Amino acid sequence: MRVFDMMAEMGHEQLVLGTDPSAGYRGIIAIHSTVLGPAVGGTRFWRYASEDDAVIDALRLSRAMTYKAAAAGMDLGGGKAVIMRGDGPPDRETIYRAHGRFVDRLGGKYLTGEDVGTTVADLEYINRETQYVISLPSGAGDPAPWTGLGIFKGIQASARYRWGSDDLRGRTVAIQGCGHVGHSLAKELHGAGAKLIVADIDPARVKELADELGATSIEADAICSAQADIFAPCALGGIINDKTIPQLKVEIVAGGANNQLLEDRHGDALEDRGILYAPDYVMNAGGLISSGIDLFRWSEAQTREKVLAIHDTLLKIFATAKAEGISTRLAADRLAESRIQAAKAHATA
Ligand code: NAI
Repeated sequence: MRVFDMMAEMGHEQLVLGTDPSAGYRGIIAIHSTVLGPAVGGTRFWRYASEDDAVIDALRLSRAMTYKAAAAGMDLGGGKAVIMRGDGPPDRETIYRAHGRFVDRLGGKYLTGEDVGTTVADLEYINRETQYVISLPSGAGDPAPWTGLGIFKGIQASARYRWGSDDLRGRTVAIQGCGHVGHSLAKELHGAGAKLIVADIDPARVKELADELGATSIEADAICSAQADIFAPCALGGIINDKTIPQLKVEIVAGGANNQLLEDRHGDALEDRGILYAPDYVMNAGGLISSGIDLFRWSEAQTREKVLAIHDTLLKIFATAKAEGISTRLAADRLAESRIQAAKAHATA
C-alpha cells in the first residue's frame, strides 16, 4: 500500500498511528485539512479485514469531513479516527481512554466525536483524557437526530427537484441501516407520511424500527433492489458500486452514510441511469452542524436553522449540476472546494 501517494492524491496533511498494547488499543487518526479550522470528525470502532482497509477508511472519511464542513459553511477542517476492533468483547473504558490520550497528544488539531460503533458513553471515556471531544451529553449531545433531520430535509429537496414538490406522502423510502441515523431519519419520514422499507444486518434493530413505525422489513441483502421511490443508505460506505447500481429500482439515492459512492465515477453511473444522487456529505452534515452548539455557542434555534438550510444547499447543487452539465457529486465538490480555495487565498494575501 502506497500511503504517501494516497495522502498526496487525496490532499491529506497528516496520518497518525497510535497503539497501547496494554489497553488492547490500535487507532488511526487522519487529518485531511485544517485550512478552514481544526479538523473535526468522529471515531469509528470497527472490525476491519486488514490494516490497509482501516487506513483507507480513515483517509476517505477524513476527506469527506473537510468537504462536509466546507459545504455546510462551517469554519472547521476535516479529520477522522478509526479504532481497530479486535476479537472478543471489548473493554470499552480502557480502549476509549487510550484513544482519548492519543487524541490529546494532537493538542486540539483534531476534535473527535461519535461515529459507527462509538456511543455517547464512549465519548465520556474519551473526555476523561482530553478536552478535544464534541457532542458530549453535557454539550451538544447525540448528533444523530440532527443528522436525521438534515437528511430528511435533503430528501425533501431531492423530491422537489425530481417531482416538483417536497411532499413525501405516499412515497416509499428504502432505508439501509437502522442504527442511530437510520432510526432518526425513519421517524422524520414516518411523520411526513412516507412509506418505509427497512433493513439491517442486526435483526433486532430492524424489528424495533418495524414495530415502532409499522415499516416493512426485508433481508439486508435485498435492500438495494427494493422497489421504492428513494434509496436512503444509512449504514456503511461504498454501497453505490458496479454491483448495486444495476439493481436499484428507485429514482433518487439520498441518505446519510458517509462515502456512499465506492468510487467517484459511480456518481456519474447513477446519473447515466437517470437516478438523482444527493451528495452524502451535504446530506449528512446535520451532526457536524450541531457541533456548533459546543464550538461556537450556537443556540438550538440557530443550529436548527442551519440544519434546515441543507435543503436549499442541495437545490443549489442540483441547479449547478444541471446548468454546467456535470454530476451532482462534482457540483458539490466544487462548492466545497471554492470555500477552501477562498480561505487559502485569504491566508496567503
Ligand atoms: P450505527 O452504528 O448506529 O448504525 C449503523 C447500522 O448499520 C447498524 O445498525 C449496522 O448493523 C447497520 N449495518 C452495517 N452494515 C450493514 C449492511 N450491509 N446492511 C444493512 N445494515 C448494515 O451508525 P450511525 O451513527 O447510524 O451511522 C450510519 C452512517 O451514517 C455511517 O456511515 C456514518 O458514518 C454516517 N453518519 C453518521 C452521523 C451521526 O450523527 N451518527 C453523522 C454523519 C454521518
